[in-house]
Amino acid sequence: MSLIIKKAKKLIGRVRVPGDKSVSHRAVMFGGIAKGITEVENFLTGEDCLSTVRCFKAMGVEVEETGPTSLRVLGKGLMGLEEPGEVLDVGNSGTTMRLMLGILAGQPFFAALTGDDSIRRRPMGRVTEPLRQMGAEIWGRQQGKFAPLAIRGGNLRAMEYNSPVASAQVKSALLLAGLYAHGVTVVEEPEKSRDHTERMLRYLGARVDVDGNRVSIHGKPELTGKKITVPGDISSAAFFLVAGSIIPDSEIILENVGVNPTRDGIIEVLQNMGADLQLVNLREVNCEPVADIIVRSSSLRGTEIGGALIPRLIDEIPVLAVAAAMATGETVIKDAEELKVKESNRIATVVKELSKFGVAIEELPDGMRIKGGKTLTGAVCESYHDHRIAMAMAVAGLSAQGETEIKDPQCIDISFPGFAETLASLQK
Ligand code: S3P
Repeated sequence: MSLIIKKAKKLIGRVRVPGDKSVSHRAVMFGGIAKGITEVENFLTGEDCLSTVRCFKAMGVEVEETGPTSLRVLGKGLMGLEEPGEVLDVGNSGTTMRLMLGILAGQPFFAALTGDDSIRRRPMGRVTEPLRQMGAEIWGRQQGKFAPLAIRGGNLRAMEYNSPVASAQVKSALLLAGLYAHGVTVVEEPEKSRDHTERMLRYLGARVDVDGNRVSIHGKPELTGKKITVPGDISSAAFFLVAGSIIPDSEIILENVGVNPTRDGIIEVLQNMGADLQLVNLREVNCEPVADIIVRSSSLRGTEIGGALIPRLIDEIPVLAVAAAMATGETVIKDAEELKVKESNRIATVVKELSKFGVAIEELPDGMRIKGGKTLTGAVCESYHDHRIAMAMAVAGLSAQGETEIKDPQCIDISFPGFAETLASLQK
């Protein structure tokens, strides 16, 4: 079955995007190793987060569904997890695999981990290497660089680690392992990546100190379960921020969107491109800033995206490329090599798929160059089983003449169940 997208006349209405994927994963994981109950509201019931729930259930954590998007996690405490009797299958979720490795590094038991074709191609050495340095035993393909992996943890040493990549998954895995080590574990990264781990661990009772791009965590804290309300996912809102900007006569109100400053690069870039975005009703829920965002159509101009901005919008680059295609002038995206090791090689897949619409787009070693302003023609797109590619191409389809077909759209459920219905509800 394919997703068929027709050129949109205008997009009007209110949208409540699903809960943030990063925060949902962490609520289950950290709730599972805290003492007591963690009630999670607005949990993302996408495939990736459900993989996290299954893995933690396999380690003895009870997770009850208390509503369509709410969960109750019965925490086992830092040392309460049980050796899983089955292989932990993370599906398509890099966050599940990398963060769970950090927690498993502290457990005195054996666990085996695997995932789908894409996960088994993604680099795991970036977490297995430093976790070994802290004392975990890890086995896997190519000396532990690729899944399937096996780990036996316990007796960790605190460490100071200078990460070569700005990656929240690497930083989080090491901070989680740091919970199990005596003393202070420090992670420094070249640019600041998303800080949901730091915020949530602190909220649950850990001592986390932040100094620029350097984060320290004190080992052996007492974590206590609490209520966690998950903000709407800005990475899901991104598709509507771009769609509302590029489709004439549109006005979309996106309610309850997480606007954490380590995640809001898309707002900054779209505003630099001339987008009409208004943030209202700014508030904070469990240490995460949230706002409603009003987007109205506007004429966009090309821009340059690189440096410290990249980790703040890394998951939004596929849909920003669509915005660039509809903008006047040239857009250059650089310093984004990390795109090559996402769910698909997102430099290659964005360039290949957007070219099919007639977009003048060129692959660069660390990004892409887009000459905007051409009229797009409907295309038949592959999703590469990559949710964000499927949704970005659907947004391109809204601006293209005729009809666009997105093949294999089921992967959208990884992060945004109900995307097609939400989009249809806005088309007036
Ligand atoms: C995530 C971190 C980012 C991001 C991913 C979710 C997280 O990955 O792309 O979608 O929840 O920590 P990296 O850590 O590989 O940059």
